[in-house]
Amino acid sequence: MVLTSSKEDPSFPVPSRLLGADAEVKDDNPKGYPRPTPHITSTDEYLTLWKESITQPDVFWSRMAKDLLSWSKPFTQTLAGTLDEGNVRWFADGELNACYNCVDRHALEDPSRVALIYEPDEPNATQRITYGELLADVCRLANVLTIDYGLRRGDTVAIYLPMIPAAVIAMLACARIGCPHTVIFAGFSAGSVADRIHDARSRVLITSNEGRRAGKVIPLKAIADTALESCPTVEHVLVYERSPVPDPLPAGVMTAGRDEFWSTALPRHRPYCPPVPMSAEDPLFLLYTSGSTGLPKGVLHTTGGYLLGAASTVKYVFDVHPGDRFGCTADVGWITGHTYIVYGPLSLGIATTLLESVPTYPTPARYWQLVEEAKLTHFYTAPTAIRSLIRLGEHWPFNSDLSSLRVLGSVGEPINPEAWYWYNDKVGREQCAIVDTYWQTETGSIIISPLPGVTHTKPGSATLPLWGIDVAVLDPQTGAELQGRDVTGVLAIRQPWPSMARSVWKDHARYLSTYLKPYPSYYFTGDGVSRDRDGYYWIRGRVDDVINVSGHRLSTSEIEAALNQHDHVAESAAVGTSDPVTGQCIFAFVTLKDDDVTEQPMAIEVKDLALKVRTMIGPFATPKCILIVQELPKTRSGKIVRRVLRKIVDGEADSLGDLSTVANPEIVPELIKVVGVSD
Ligand code: WTA
Repeated sequence: MVLTSSKEDPSFPVPSRLLGADAEVKDDNPKGYPRPTPHITSTDEYLTLWKESITQPDVFWSRMAKDLLSWSKPFTQTLAGTLDEGNVRWFADGELNACYNCVDRHALEDPSRVALIYEPDEPNATQRITYGELLADVCRLANVLTIDYGLRRGDTVAIYLPMIPAAVIAMLACARIGCPHTVIFAGFSAGSVADRIHDARSRVLITSNEGRRAGKVIPLKAIADTALESCPTVEHVLVYERSPVPDPLPAGVMTAGRDEFWSTALPRHRPYCPPVPMSAEDPLFLLYTSGSTGLPKGVLHTTGGYLLGAASTVKYVFDVHPGDRFGCTADVGWITGHTYIVYGPLSLGIATTLLESVPTYPTPARYWQLVEEAKLTHFYTAPTAIRSLIRLGEHWPFNSDLSSLRVLGSVGEPINPEAWYWYNDKVGREQCAIVDTYWQTETGSIIISPLPGVTHTKPGSATLPLWGIDVAVLDPQTGAELQGRDVTGVLAIRQPWPSMARSVWKDHARYLSTYLKPYPSYYFTGDGVSRDRDGYYWIRGRVDDVINVSGHRLSTSEIEAALNQHDHVAESAAVGTSDPVTGQCIFAFVTLKDDDVTEQPMAIEVKDLALKVRTMIGPFATPKCILIVQELPKTRSGKIVRRVLRKIVDGEADSLGDLSTVANPEIVPELIKVVGVSD
């Protein structure tokens, strides 16, 4: 079956394994947790809705938008604009507030309902925050931002916080007052923090004195202070006290007139602040992500469409029902955290989890004890995390009661069958549906995924497109659509969908040239894809210079820029290669400035180079291997031929292909030798 807008009548394949298919007929699982009837109960129902979403997007999405969101001013228009023109807008004359949708309406219904389950780094200290409490703190902070700091609708706020409730409160307070937030992952170093604040021109930064991860202390405020030395736009820094602050405070910790503590600022204000009605097309947030070239770009998401994508995918992809408890292990600094920790679960009024620690701290049972303790119904993680846990043994998940779980999600990278089966058998105990969800920062929400209990799954395939996603497989060279089955090309989308990014912050031309111009009339994902004989989609990884390490997106140019900062480095080239745990890892080649090769002791040099990347970007970007070489393969015009390096590190030196464009082919055998020695 091929899901295109053609008139072909689809028929489903014989499943390779029927997973979760019996969930629709079961009332309960062996431990007695009730299993609700799924929202979508058959493949026919899915297909009927999918077809309607493609042929009558106006009808489909206006029904969804009214059903799932509360509007302070109803919309009369649905979709306007086209991919060709790059001026897509949804529900543009409607007004709503994302914070109202995520907090107020649930607090009004039942203030004592749990909104956040906070699992701090320290074990056995789980905290629960209700919708009523969340509303009060969000309002207090919104008042600090508007009354004390003078923020106005449209001003951006930078958030550099660990996985603590303050991060969610900060995001929602910004949404409440119409200030787009830009959350900066707490693993980024000062240079990356500065780049993002600078580009977003944020007037306020919200951070914490420290972060905690696996017992280690991360000095967030100190890193932020270094970043702020080059960020003159920041007028106020609000510091959440994640850990006790010394009394008296050493001089220089807080900058007078600029910095203040959360516990000083919030109690000044009453626990209510009216939500600002926003146009559906007003920006909700920007989130920086790596592309092939240049500095990371501030991907811009708007209020109505984004929230609809978040709410509808949590409802249908995870088959969420009232009272569910959602556990997503991502970080709020990435899009998965935005959509599936904050906006998606909260817009539906269920409980969502903030896990500050790592899966192995203090033991590899951390995730599973949390599932048991919090009775999570959903668990959403990355294949890297699963692979790292497989190595540590199956007794860890077996020792916990995981019977509350109904749906297990995977995201960020292709899931290999071994990890898929482990997740299904050892965590899901063959009682859960597995959803391999494909999407991107730019798509805002999941776009290709099975529906639990409905779609027959094949381990490793994200299966079929969701509502409104009209997938095309294109020939990468000609841009022509590859019709039918058993085809491989690049993944593109034919029609706008509500949660698609609308722009790149202050650089709409870059938005057009990255996503909409490469293949005119299509949105281009940057991923390779195959459509198999059953019409299922298999994501083949990036076709650009983006490397996906543990589900974190990095561009080769960012890593090279960091390496090139080293005084002795003349040039560098980073490539991605596969890694059994992290999916991909970074392999970097550097050449040194004249004479350095013989003068520098190599071991020290390599350590220093790695340190450059750690300090310029963050520890998660550190290359797995850095090799100092005499020369890099180049074209006659001086461009580094990364293709050759990629082949060499992938162990495919015997199929290097045409080397006629390489001006210095004589160095290739030397490179093969050096890489061989490093293995
Ligand atoms: C990759 C994360 C295979 C893909 C949500 C995409 C995947 C990039 C999957 C986006 C999946 C994400 N199977 N590959 N299920 N999900 N990817 O922006 O290459 O951090 O383009 O968003 O991750 O990464 P991003």
